[in-house]
Amino acid sequence: MRVGLTYDMRDDYRGTGLPEEALAEFDSAETIAELETTLRRLGLDVDRIGHVRHLAQRLVAGDRWDFVFNIAEGLKGRAREAQVPALLEAYDIPYVFSDPLVMSVTLDKAVAKRLVRDHGVPTAPFVVLESAAEVAAVDFPYPVFAKPVAEGTGKGCTAASRCASPAELRRTLRRLLARYDQPVIVEPFLPGREFTVGIVGTGAEAKVLAVMEIALRPGAEAGVYSYENKEQCESRVAYGLAQDGEARQAGETALAAYRALGCRDAGRVDLRSDAAGVPQFLEVNPVAGLHPTHSDLPILAGLAGINYDQLLGRIVAACLARTGLDQAPVVTRRAAAGRAA
Ligand SMILES: Nc1ncnc2c1ncn2[C@@H]1O[C@H](COP(=O)(O)OP(=O)(O)OP(=O)(O)O)[C@@H](O)[C@H]1O
Ligand SMILES: [Mg+2]
Repeated sequence: MRVGLTYDMRDDYRGTGLPEEALAEFDSAETIAELETTLRRLGLDVDRIGHVRHLAQRLVAGDRWDFVFNIAEGLKGRAREAQVPALLEAYDIPYVFSDPLVMSVTLDKAVAKRLVRDHGVPTAPFVVLESAAEVAAVDFPYPVFAKPVAEGTGKGCTAASRCASPAELRRTLRRLLARYDQPVIVEPFLPGREFTVGIVGTGAEAKVLAVMEIALRPGAEAGVYSYENKEQCESRVAYGLAQDGEARQAGETALAAYRALGCRDAGRVDLRSDAAGVPQFLEVNPVAGLHPTHSDLPILAGLAGINYDQLLGRIVAACLARTGLDQAPVVTRRAAAGRAA
């Protein structure tokens, strides 16, 4: 099967004047290379495409694929993660992972929380603030936690995100609003254990791979699984499988959120427990990082005895089963694609 690979690689944007932090969410050359070799080992004929504009050029030039493995995060706009999936749908090309609507609603943490809350999934209350003058809108007790409403990779999540008073929150808001140029979501600070849950499959077929607990080592930035801690995770973070009652509850909540949002093929849900030890939904990552040793999903799969090849194999199998591509003879699909073009 011919598989296209879409991604945003840091190197493709170097020299464009974008600051290093803007590139943080993008993939390293190493991740793409690992992904490519592994998909080849799985018997797929991999064709590197690149980011959304590369994809657009290739589509217009008439190139087609049996399906696309998409890990592009997008560069601009609130729907940036939706751009590649939307373009692929316009050309009727199946792809791995979630559709444009899911990509958009999950990038905005407040929208995602509203939707999961509507499905009865436990998630902390929150407000979205656009200026430091709005702190009076916070109608839950301090301490609170403030972060940009639509970023990833721990961007804007630092020790200063935990604010013990309205005055502290005002300071943090000013800094976050100026730096990230988008509203800030404020929630109660959740003081309990932190979990991230890996999920593979779609809808009723979706299953929890494993629940991983994230514990910070001495020397880490305290209390937050922040950008700095993530970048230096090898020395700062202790990852372990968690299988006790609270962890199982985290797994169930994660799966309920994943299904409520309509995520597909695979994803990772982040949770943190409240003071009563009840895991609360923080966010879902429908395009979870896939660096074999540095990203949470491969790390947690590894802890559960699922190696990188097997993880990617399961993700691809989930996509093929969902789209029916595992049934259709490849030649037929190519002919159909040819007719449509
Ligand atoms: N309400 C909260 N209370 C306590 N800590 C929080 C809260 N919200 C976020 N955090 C901390 O900040 C970290 C990053 O938050 P979150 O997962 O929402 O952001 P992210 O940058 O999108 O993450 P990712 O890198 O997974 O994309 C969490 O893993 C957690 O340690
Ligand atoms: Mg997270």
